[in-house]
Amino acid sequence: MSSIISDKILSWYDKNARVLPWRISPALKKSGIQPDAYQVWLSEIMLQQTTVATVISYYEKFIRLWPTIFDLASATSDDIMHAWAGLGYYSRARNLHKTAQMIANHHQGIFPNDEKELIKFAGIGIYTSASIASIAFDQPAAVMDGNIERVVSRLYSVKTPLPLAKKELYQIVKTLTPQKRAGDYAQAMMDLGATVCTPKKPNCSICPLSNHCKAYAENTAELYPYKIKKPAKPIHHGQIIIITNTEHTHIVVEKRPISGLFGGMEIFPYINPHENKGKAFQDIDTILKEITDKSDIKHRTKLGMLKHIFTHFTFFAEVILVECDRLKNIPNDSKARIIPIKNIHTIAMPKLMMNALSLLKQHYQLSLYLEKVV
Ligand code: ADE
Repeated sequence: MSSIISDKILSWYDKNARVLPWRISPALKKSGIQPDAYQVWLSEIMLQQTTVATVISYYEKFIRLWPTIFDLASATSDDIMHAWAGLGYYSRARNLHKTAQMIANHHQGIFPNDEKELIKFAGIGIYTSASIASIAFDQPAAVMDGNIERVVSRLYSVKTPLPLAKKELYQIVKTLTPQKRAGDYAQAMMDLGATVCTPKKPNCSICPLSNHCKAYAENTAELYPYKIKKPAKPIHHGQIIIITNTEHTHIVVEKRPISGLFGGMEIFPYINPHENKGKAFQDIDTILKEITDKSDIKHRTKLGMLKHIFTHFTFFAEVILVECDRLKNIPNDSKARIIPIKNIHTIAMPKLMMNALSLLKQHYQLSLYLEKVV
């Protein structure tokens, strides 16, 4: 039975594989072309918690900047963080650099082909070690991501709710994984989950596995995978403070510590009264005291509201622009620093802060426009 399923899905993949920049198509693989483990590893790290559509341009940029593991290993961490900016989960970028240096300097640039060895490197967990072993080296490792969980839970009508069901689903994935073409098989399951066996309105009429699918037989596909209802994320309300001089030539940014929220990135100072560990500021005056004298504050303007979903909470941030006649010389030991506004695009900023910057740009454009018309 399991070989019938893998044969069917592989034939489907031969005709329907998505074209992705890190992927060797089934036809090219059959002609003997092997995937590059560096490219597979890079793509799999980027695809952790991030969609294919978002990853494509980042992946292409990284390959353009650092075509080999040796190039990436010898890049500066600032350059890597800058190129990663906007992709989120920034510990991935730091682990990426660590692993690149490890493989380049201690493994002659060659990734091991075995999941038990791969998992020892920074940033590579159970899923990623199996996916690299499978896709780059055709090892019959059991690859189970969210798409595959959904396909398998429907195929076997697994009613145990996630995350409890993970062990049971993993056992099924193990028995389904073929000895040959394991990499194509894993990618075929991912593609089937992403394009046919979708969370809502699965397209069962074109599914190569519908004859074997218990959920399809019961007309209940949309109910799977069963899930334990997660408690709603807490909502935090706070502020992002953009501080500039009145001439708009300089702006204040803050370097985040390596661990914690926005780890290693540069941000605008922000206030989140709910966050004490990893330490956001607790109030706006503490921020301003370091940077300017009270008498130098000329305008406070509300630029707008932003919403950002973090892993553990949803953040609603009011973006406030504070314009000051004079910005103090910030002491060297401060987290904050003043940079020329024209250099803002050279630093590694997370998406939320880039969105705050867009509000500032809109405000400047509007102010210039109003100056002309009023
Ligand atoms: N999601 C995670 N890894 C993937 C891959 N190699 N192809 C398509 N989607 C994926």
